[in-house]
Amino acid sequence: MKCGAVKQLIVCLLSLWLFVSLGSAAGTHLGLPSAPFVDAEDIPAKAELGRMLFFDQRLSANGRVSCASCHVPEFAFTDGRARSIGINDSVEGTRNAPSLLNLAWQGSFFWDGRASTLESQVLGPLFSPVEHGLSGAEDLLNRIRQYKSYEDGFSAAFSVLPQQISQHHVASALATYLRGLVSADSRADRYMYGADSSALTKTEIEGLNLFVGRAGCATCHKVDTEAALYTDNQFHALPVSFARFADKLPGVIERISNASEVELALMIQTDLEIAALGRFAVTKVPAHIGAFRTPSLRNVAITAPYMHDGSIGSLESAVEQEIYYRGLVDGRPLILTLEEKLALVDFLKALTGFVPDKNHQNHAN
Ligand code: HEC
Ligand code: HEC
Repeated sequence: MKCGAVKQLIVCLLSLWLFVSLGSAAGTHLGLPSAPFVDAEDIPAKAELGRMLFFDQRLSANGRVSCASCHVPEFAFTDGRARSIGINDSVEGTRNAPSLLNLAWQGSFFWDGRASTLESQVLGPLFSPVEHGLSGAEDLLNRIRQYKSYEDGFSAAFSVLPQQISQHHVASALATYLRGLVSADSRADRYMYGADSSALTKTEIEGLNLFVGRAGCATCHKVDTEAALYTDNQFHALPVSFARFADKLPGVIERISNASEVELALMIQTDLEIAALGRFAVTKVPAHIGAFRTPSLRNVAITAPYMHDGSIGSLESAVEQEIYYRGLVDGRPLILTLEEKLALVDFLKALTGFVPDKNHQNHAN
């Protein structure tokens, strides 16, 4: 575009403004910061392939486990259990399945942040003996190569022939699909960021004011002026969650000190004491013992049970516990009336937003 003369300059600036505002509108979701890295919209063939992989039970040792077994769209991609159950039907894991919504805004993954990219995380469950139980890359790729739908899917996404498909393609497709799982536009977003003053009830507004004000929740479950992630992407410890393991600490620490990354991951998945170490298992910094990622509270009304170990059954009890212990850690006990606690719960229930792929079913044989 040429912008020589003054008249042309004005036209030029106007079209530039139009271009920029249209461009940013494309990646905007009410209540979320502008997307840092949502590639699913740009690469639909990759995201579509990732969706196929995500819901496919055939990619497991017994043909019954898919990613969606533990990350059910209807429950905001959690599984409704305290702790997940994988390939070994009766054996509970050590942690609560987190929501997979808005991962594009997350700096690290898992309750302890032990994975730093989605690409490095998504193959883990496929090869874990307690999740999908596949024996390795060849096992995975042999299964994939049996199906014409995958031949077409990988060809469309990566322009590769079946024999050229690698586990990196699988990881890339799954990660792209996950980054496209965006949830925003809750009633709270419409009230706070959409200028819709009737979107929240009087009690919910009272809850919001407590949340960002006197109750201090937003220190960690962040709410900003332009958008809200309801997490600071940081790790925080509650002394109580670790108190019951304190006497076993030296032994537990010794067991993890020489473990490789893969060994450590399996220990975290199968050993409650090691899982309870939280962020410490990753950093070995004593202050991180029992520290866990602040979960986003978006869609929290549909993600029960709560906390890293699923130990809290209802939203009311989760709020009660948070009020009690977070105040204690701060050295300023927080006293709220029953009405105020209920107002906080009501506000959290207004954080349920759009959930993608809600009606998508698992794919079996
Ligand atoms: C047996 C249940 C189970 C299966 C199957 C499973 N997951 Fe998970 N997933 C979990 C649990 C439990 C965690 C939390 C583990 C932790 O924090 O240590 C998790 C964590 C994650 C995270 C990190 C989320 C965050 O907020 O940090 C991602 C991403 C993820 N899973 C993707 C997948 C994908 C992709 C698949 C399929 C290839 C899959 N999961 C299969 C149970 C499962
Ligand atoms: C110091 C940081 C911090 C403050 C302050 C804080 N939280 Fe949390 N919150 C966390 C962390 C970390 C977790 C996860 C703890 C765990 O898994 O053991 C959590 C978990 C929760 C959960 C469970 C969510 C889930 O998906 O499992 C709810 C609900 C919650 N907080 C609400 C609140 C409310 C309401 C307040 C204010 C009264 C509050 N929090 C104050 C850090 C904080």
